Amino acid sequence: MDGIQDTGANLEAAIAGEKYEFTELYPGFLSTAEGEGNKRAEISFRNALGVEEIHHGLYSGALAAVKDGNDIAETAIHVCEICGNTVYGAFQDPCAVCKAPAAKFMEIE
Ligand SMILES: [Fe+2]
Repeated sequence: MDGIQDTGANLEAAIAGEKYEFTELYPGFLSTAEGEGNKRAEISFRNALGVEEIHHGLYSGALAAVKDGNDIAETAIHVCEICGNTVYGAFQDPCAVCKAPAAKFMEIE
């Protein structure tokens, strides 16, 4: 990133970063963990990969709203304390990424 810019440019940079993470960075880490037979690392990288893809979608939705001259709708946001999965609206049970129970979701105010 090249410092703070306008919201649209900041979101575009964030989207590019998330895409890199779930298409290149974490798949490489996951492959290495699988090759080493490190099951705990595999779980961690698989969760991170899934969550970064979700963040990519959330940022993309926010960018679309900005381009339309709107704000995203105000809603509850829940974050899984285990993997970082971020959900607008009602939380999931279990977490769609790491399968943690609903009690592991924290509402962000
Ligand atoms: Fe999770």
